[in-house]
Amino acid sequence: MNTPAAAIDRASLPALFTPRGLDTHKGSFGTVGVVGGGPGMTGAALLAARAALKVGAGKVLVGFAQESAPLPCDVLQPELMLRDFRSLLDEDWGVTAWVAGCGLGTGALAANALSELFVLRREAPLVLDADGLNLLAWGDIQPNWSSGPVVLTPHPAEAGRLLGIGTADVQADRLGAARQLAQRYKAWIVLKGAGTVVCDPAGGCRVNTSGNPGLATAGTGDVLAGMLGSLIAQKLPLEQAVAGAVWLHGAAADALVARGVGPIGLTAGELADAARTLRNQG
Ligand code: APR
Ligand code: MG
Repeated sequence: MNTPAAAIDRASLPALFTPRGLDTHKGSFGTVGVVGGGPGMTGAALLAARAALKVGAGKVLVGFAQESAPLPCDVLQPELMLRDFRSLLDEDWGVTAWVAGCGLGTGALAANALSELFVLRREAPLVLDADGLNLLAWGDIQPNWSSGPVVLTPHPAEAGRLLGIGTADVQADRLGAARQLAQRYKAWIVLKGAGTVVCDPAGGCRVNTSGNPGLATAGTGDVLAGMLGSLIAQKLPLEQAVAGAVWLHGAAADALVARGVGPIGLTAGELADAARTLRNQG
């Protein structure tokens, strides 16, 4: 008989709520580099980047997968540093975790940017989402798995693409699918959807207990990717960072619903503010 997977709940995530030391500075909380936001998808990268900032990263840079950065500045979040992907990859910005794939696109520019990132990430952990997963599934990138941890964040259709099976097959055995992905890619897996499954690279899996159907709206996956990158950049133990971001994202949605901000009409960007409040209230 299969033993049930352990739950991801608040009590299992002490690192999320450790207070900041007094003698700290922005360098203490890491730098996130977001590579995504191809033409027409600028917002996906901004959602990830804003969320990374609001759950506590010291600095956040965006490298848009466009020939030149589409915006000089995010006027609603001017703390973000916006660049084109080239300048983000060619200079050493001291990135302590990368988030790649949100609105990246699947053309040659996107595939080349991602292949380069696998090499140039200088062993910093990498969260791979959305089109990054599609490029991986189609064999359009040459991933270099040897340089630092990787977290893959597929929704069920993306997981099916990676495994070469249908979405319904993934949903029929979510734990099995997530474990297979972990073992195949030697990566952390976050299989999204109600009851998100988190597996470590050895195939040890847990199931998240937070979240609700308010999350079924565009951009919530981008926000999750940003939160993952942020907690990893902040150097929480990897297991606490991955499970912690997944729980925090769902708990933020639960807090918004409790205030009447959803489930109907909850917007992805609102999650980051709610998650910030949860972290600060401890
Ligand atoms: N209950 C709990 N959580 C849910 C529910 C639900 N009913 N519905 C959605 N979620 C959560 C998922 O667990 C995940 O964290 O919301 C998030 C949705 O993420 P994505 O499916 O990646 O959605 P989105 O942000 O819109 O993706 C943007 O990336 O993956 C591609 O095809 C996707 O092009 C789209 C883009
Ligand atoms: Mg997505």
